[in-house]
Amino acid sequence: MEQANLFQEIVSLCKRRAVVFPSSEIYGGINSCWDYGPLGVELRRNLKDLWWKAVVQGHRNVVGADTSIIMHPEVWVASGHRDHFTDPLVDCKSCKQRFRADQIDLTKCPECGGQLTEPRSFNLMFKTYMGPVEDDAAQVFLRPETAQGIFVDFETIFNGSRGKLPFGIAQIGKSFRNEVSPGNFIFRSREFEQMELEFFVDPSTEDFWFDKWVKERLEWYVSIGINPERLRTRPHGPDELAHYAKACVDIEYLFPFGWKEIEGIANRGQFDLQVHARSSGKQLVVFDQVREENVVPSVIESSSGVDRILLVALVDAYEKEAERSVLRFHPTLAPTKVAVLPLMRKEPLVEKAVSLEEELRGSFTVEYDDAGSIGRRYRRQDESGTPYCLTVDYQSLEDDTVTIRFRDSMRQERLPVKGLTGRISELMKSREPMPVE
Ligand code: GAP
Repeated sequence: MEQANLFQEIVSLCKRRAVVFPSSEIYGGINSCWDYGPLGVELRRNLKDLWWKAVVQGHRNVVGADTSIIMHPEVWVASGHRDHFTDPLVDCKSCKQRFRADQIDLTKCPECGGQLTEPRSFNLMFKTYMGPVEDDAAQVFLRPETAQGIFVDFETIFNGSRGKLPFGIAQIGKSFRNEVSPGNFIFRSREFEQMELEFFVDPSTEDFWFDKWVKERLEWYVSIGINPERLRTRPHGPDELAHYAKACVDIEYLFPFGWKEIEGIANRGQFDLQVHARSSGKQLVVFDQVREENVVPSVIESSSGVDRILLVALVDAYEKEAERSVLRFHPTLAPTKVAVLPLMRKEPLVEKAVSLEEELRGSFTVEYDDAGSIGRRYRRQDESGTPYCLTVDYQSLEDDTVTIRFRDSMRQERLPVKGLTGRISELMKSREPMPVE
């Protein structure tokens, strides 16, 4: 199937099944803001949990934080965002459309062929006012990255945790960018969520930790079931580097619209702590016991977007077959783990199925469905990415077994109800379910 059609099918599935869809749709929607429904919100939570488990709970020397979206305006002056966080913008004098000057041929408007204005810088930060008076003194910004909250809190968190280098602080939270050209569904939006790790190290060890995090982060995508053939790393050239970075490697995914960045791993050097120290007048240093001197740590950053990785998960998992559409999520990512289906909506099948559903509900996200033919119910679960369907039939009433149907192979086996929770937990560890003995 053509890549553009495939992408369109994913977008329609997301709307039809209320996974993710335009915000405020009854008013015609608002460009580039998105709402997540029940399946989407479970998928999001799973993604964030998997990231948190790997990045924070998986390392003795990484801790979590949750900093505010609105910060002191001086933060953005010191960080360089007020002056440098800009995109070059051009307007078409005829059709009035706006474009990013670095993404088009500047000789004519790509839409109508009209004349374009000279490029001008456009700051991507959303502005608002704190308090009732809307003057310059009250102007504040919605953060365009979560990272700055970590830098300004570094001293408090490091000391409060009795930290030692190397030491990481991670957070997941909303960021806002007034993007000139949002698009490709949830790939680039104006309100999105980031997962960021700022890993503070002795400057002499920057390169070692940079390489280590690039490797570890790439492996994480494979561990959540993303096809490694559609992943690659791409180092930034010197002309592409952000104003704060000494080096940067993007992790890219092959979307239907080409290879695109999903995460950046950057060596931010001492830039952030130095600029905030200078601007705030506070010493942001760590005492090195061996050298007996103060050191300004360097920062290795891993920065990714929840919405963008969620799009990766959808694109990577989606498959259109002759008889069905299927989302082949890794079981740990799947929004619903188990569907419980009585063969027919009849007693005592329903009673047994409901009691099984209640038993499993404490351990997994479970959906109960007794509406329509069993074949249609399987297809519906395939489209939601549910890896296991459990069917309660007449044999279940006699021998306390159920049929387990695997989403990917559509293979079916019988399993005793006793010990089912443990068995499903075991199965969930692998993408391709092992045959049941
Ligand atoms: N703190 C560094 C930083 O923010 P970035 O490359 O600008 O770096 C990091 O952003 C990640 O955040 C990107 O790789 C992407 O996953 C996500 N991201 C950035 N802008 C986004 C947008 N407009 N919509 C959705 N995700 C975005």
